[in-house]
Amino acid sequence: MPVITNIDDLKRIYRRRVPKMFYDYAETGSWSEQTFRDNSTDFAEIRLRQRVAVDMTNRSTASRMIGGDVAMPVALAPVGLTGMQHADGEIKAARAAETFGVPFTLSTLSICSIEDVAEHTSRPFWLQVYTLTDNDFMQRLFDRARAAGCSAIVITLDLQIGGQRHKDIKNGLSAPPKLTAKSIANMMTKPRWGLGMLGTKRRFFGNVIGHAKGVSDPSSLSSWTEEAFDQALDWDRVRELIRMWGGKVILKGILDAEDAVKALDVGADAIIVSNHGGRQLDGALSAIRALPAILDAVGDRIEVHLDSGIRSGQDVLKALALGAKGTYVGRAFVYGLGAMGEAGVTAALQVIHKELDTTMALCGETRVQNLGRHNLLIPRHFSGDWQG
Ligand SMILES: Cc1cc2nc3c(=O)[nH]c(=O)nc-3n(C[C@H](O)[C@H](O)[C@H](O)COP(=O)(O)O)c2cc1C
Repeated sequence: MPVITNIDDLKRIYRRRVPKMFYDYAETGSWSEQTFRDNSTDFAEIRLRQRVAVDMTNRSTASRMIGGDVAMPVALAPVGLTGMQHADGEIKAARAAETFGVPFTLSTLSICSIEDVAEHTSRPFWLQVYTLTDNDFMQRLFDRARAAGCSAIVITLDLQIGGQRHKDIKNGLSAPPKLTAKSIANMMTKPRWGLGMLGTKRRFFGNVIGHAKGVSDPSSLSSWTEEAFDQALDWDRVRELIRMWGGKVILKGILDAEDAVKALDVGADAIIVSNHGGRQLDGALSAIRALPAILDAVGDRIEVHLDSGIRSGQDVLKALALGAKGTYVGRAFVYGLGAMGEAGVTAALQVIHKELDTTMALCGETRVQNLGRHNLLIPRHFSGDWQG
């Protein structure tokens, strides 16, 4: 077992073990990747206030997200095609999250289905849904989620149309991967990954194939997805989807204070301040930079979560100290999964937990709930001095 001390260690192993097509799929942002880069570099702009001679015994990172207990306020974000990063990837990641005591969010565009994940876990997970035109499919998805015991849905609002990632087009990204001379040559260098894939039957989009009307095999899936995303989405439709589900709802992809207020008005339980990890609107603000204005607009009236750019416990601490009640990691857990399967996701969570706990102590705090702006040194114009 390699010695893992930080998330970058997992990323290096991940890069060696997973086919280039899937590494590139995760490790890219849209167009020039400005927002993808800013998501990480903007975290580094914020510094921490070191405090000394404060009793740091009896620390705890335990908290709550939408009313549920969490070992630390760090959930696994929905990541499409996770089961292509490692055989049965969604099941592996969900099990690691469950054992650690943090929420797992299953993407609609996962390889393992809702039922697969429910069968291999014992605690409720969250289901992420896109806003699709096909009402029958949406209704059935909600029914399946209820039957599987999902405790919340996460509605992704920032993907009515896809941002372009150049590498995915050049690599001909698909699940399962298309067999070309180039992809075969690359996969031959990833024997662990290949053996894992040969050993599982889960290699297609488990929530869609056989469930969406007219989609019975991978070749009919691409025409379905082209038409499935609802470009006419508006807040009335969001309200309707919330009604159709009838349970707890988290709205994902909020980056603007006005939209945060609208999310509050439609009755969401929480919002995720997110730019989809820099995969959608290139040129948008980093999530951490957008957070303060959103918190100013909604205050405590709705639970505010954040993702995009988190690679360490220090990043988590900064988001919490700015006022977020929860955070999510996307790529950080994918690196672990691709590197070492379930053990790798556990390693990623352990790294982040240790960093969060130690950093909290060195800031003079013993409870994540007590973190606040008093722990941070924020550049004067961090939120930006932009002209609208
Ligand atoms: C490979 C990949 C696939 C993703 N697929 C989805 C998805 O299916 N649904 C969704 O709402 N967000 C998706 N996201 C966005 C994540 O949920 C999350 O917002 C993002 O990864 C956070 O940024 P981070 O990767 O820097 O932590 C995806 C992100 C990545 C990296």
